[in-house]
Amino acid sequence: MQLQDQFSRKFYYLRLSITDVCNFKCNYCLPDGYKADGKPEFLGRDELRRIVTGFAEMGTEKVRITGGEPSLRKDFTDIISDIAEIPKINKVATTTNGFNLEKYAQQWRDAGLDALNVSIDSLDARMFRQITGKNMFHKVMAGLDAAFTAGFETVKVNTVLMRNLNDIELDDFLNWIKTRPIQLRFIELMQTGDNQALFDKHHVSGASIRDKLILQGWVSKVRGKADGPAQVFIHPDYIGEIGLIMPYEKNFCSTCNRLRVSTKGRLHLCLFGEGGVELRDLLQDDNQQQALIERVVGHMSEKKSTHFLQDGFTANTPHLASIGG
Ligand code: GTP
Ligand code: 5AD
Ligand code: SF4
Repeated sequence: MQLQDQFSRKFYYLRLSITDVCNFKCNYCLPDGYKADGKPEFLGRDELRRIVTGFAEMGTEKVRITGGEPSLRKDFTDIISDIAEIPKINKVATTTNGFNLEKYAQQWRDAGLDALNVSIDSLDARMFRQITGKNMFHKVMAGLDAAFTAGFETVKVNTVLMRNLNDIELDDFLNWIKTRPIQLRFIELMQTGDNQALFDKHHVSGASIRDKLILQGWVSKVRGKADGPAQVFIHPDYIGEIGLIMPYEKNFCSTCNRLRVSTKGRLHLCLFGEGGVELRDLLQDDNQQQALIERVVGHMSEKKSTHFLQDGFTANTPHLASIGG
């Protein structure tokens, strides 16, 4: 069986948020005063195993473990190996702020982690601190080295470019990937309920970055069928690639291939725009798998064609940490 919606979009990819706790405080993500939700209620290992097993029956092949910062959970390595062992799941990925990478990259790799995305918003230690609220630039960079040593052949790096903060680093970032096997993804700042003032002040359009790349000789790569939201650019002089994630571009959602499950076990059909469907009551016993599948399938017709609200804004999600970006 292959899950799909009324627009014939197929969902091979599940993003699973396992905690909304984070030890960084990126200015676009977690605003001052934000309090995470209290750990004990997060889905436990058995619940996570059941949800992924159910989705694997519905055609999910790839699982990305997200947060908050997923590696803050003590059972993170066990969660990786639990998911990697589920038949039909052929790719286990995570998105991390890099804080624990230096210490654990090898352990995660050995547990079955196939792919790694690391958020790095600046190559300047002071700017890194200004954006993330943490003086962790060198630690995260050491983590990136550890990831390559552990056998990840390529790593994706996520960077949110913001006007008058890190946007002057565009050329530094390009130089940085000249000799490194990194797919550097510029993610256009997204407006959420909690970051509106920041959005107004610092938003940089993805299209303006694309225009600069094209002027420097970067060319767009043909999209693969199962590719994510990034438009990928390559350049003959660079080992690395650029991915542009431009959520405000027309047609961004037409290739959507992912669903999300929050820390508390709610299915989110989109990053923006709805409160989610309760699934946790159907994760309490291995015998509930059929009911889980029926509930998910029953809600697929509610997935909208796009995340834009009528007025073109996406701001009704407070922040992206609890549903994992
Ligand atoms: P791959 O799995 O390697 O394709 O990466 P990914 O881009 O799906 O994963 P990652 O967690 O690195 O995502 C980077 C960011 O892209 C997310 O945190 C979001 O900010 C944005 N993004 C990913 N998927 C979507 C989506 O469906 N809609 C929107 N609006 N943004 C998304
Ligand atoms: N706009 C753009 N990207 C965001 N992320 C989190 N919040 C936002 C936002 N408002 C991204 C981070 C991280 C990923 C998990 O989500 O850069 O790389
Ligand atoms: Fe933490 Fe990621 Fe949000 Fe930064 S973007 S505060 S690292 S969850």
